[in-house]
Amino acid sequence: MPQSIQPCVRLTDAVKTFSSGTGFVRALDGLSLDVYPGEILAVTGESGCGKSTLLNMIGGMDELTEGRLEVFGRDMTQLSGKERTDYRRLDVGFIFQDYHLVPELSALENVALVAGLVPDALSPRDVLRSVGLEAQAGRFPGELSGGQQQRVAVARALVKRPRLLLADEPTAALDLGSAKEVLSVLVRAIREAPATQDKQAYLILVTHNREITRIADRVVVMKSGRVCDVYPPPEPCRADELEW
Ligand SMILES: Nc1ncnc2c1ncn2[C@@H]1O[C@H](COP(=O)(O)OP(=O)(O)O)[C@@H](O)[C@H]1O
Ligand SMILES: [Mg+2]
Repeated sequence: MPQSIQPCVRLTDAVKTFSSGTGFVRALDGLSLDVYPGEILAVTGESGCGKSTLLNMIGGMDELTEGRLEVFGRDMTQLSGKERTDYRRLDVGFIFQDYHLVPELSALENVALVAGLVPDALSPRDVLRSVGLEAQAGRFPGELSGGQQQRVAVARALVKRPRLLLADEPTAALDLGSAKEVLSVLVRAIREAPATQDKQAYLILVTHNREITRIADRVVVMKSGRVCDVYPPPEPCRADELEW
C-alpha cells in the first residue's frame, strides 16, 4: 500500500485478555495492524489464534485491555457508550458464520429491519436483487438454503452502506458452490462501492481456509494473538475460480 494513504483502522500493540477458569487467556497479545480504505483483507490462522477477537474489537463489540485502536482517525478507547453504539449501527456491517437472521421475518423484512436503523439506507429490494435473491424476497429463512440465507445476511449488512464490512468465517458452513456465490457478492460490493457510494468500503474477511485468502488484496496470518505474516496472495484469483 502507498504510504500516502491513511489507514482506516490502526491497531497498535493491542492486547485483549479474557479470564478463564485457570487464569487469563491473551487472545490478542501485542498485535499491530493497519487496514486501508478500499482493500479486501483476509485474516487467517489456526483455530484459537484470536481472529474473531480481532474482528470483534474492530467492530466495536468489545474493548481492548491494553494498546490502541483507531478507526477512521478516532480513538476507539475514548468513545462513550452511545458513540460506540452509533459506530456499530452506522459504520459496521457484520456477517457471521451462522447467518443470525430473524426466523419469523421474510428475507426482505430481515433486510428492511436493518435499513430502518440508519438515515441513508439503500432500498432493501434493490440490495436483495444485487445478491441474486429478488425471487426469494418473500421467503422465510427456514425456506432458504444455507447459501441463500448467507446472501440475505450479506444484503442486510450492505443495505446500511457500511464503511467497513466484517465477515467472520462467512462460508465455513457452506458447500463450495454456495461459498463462491457468497464471496462473489462480497467482493463485488467492495469493488463497486467507490463508484456508487460516497463512502469507500472495505472488507475484513476472517477465514481458516487458506484457499479463500486468494481473493484478498492482502493476507494477514495470525498466531497466538499476534500477526506473524502479511503478504499479497501469491496466486490471486476471482471468487468464482476458487476450488477446494
Ligand atoms: N469471551 C471469551 N471468554 C474467554 N475466552 C475467550 C473468549 N473469547 C475468546 N476466548 C479465547 O481467546 C482465544 C482466541 O479466541 P478466538 O478469537 O475466538 O479465536 P479464533 O477466532 O481464531 O478461533 C481462544 O483461546 C479462546 O478460547
Ligand atoms: Mg473465530
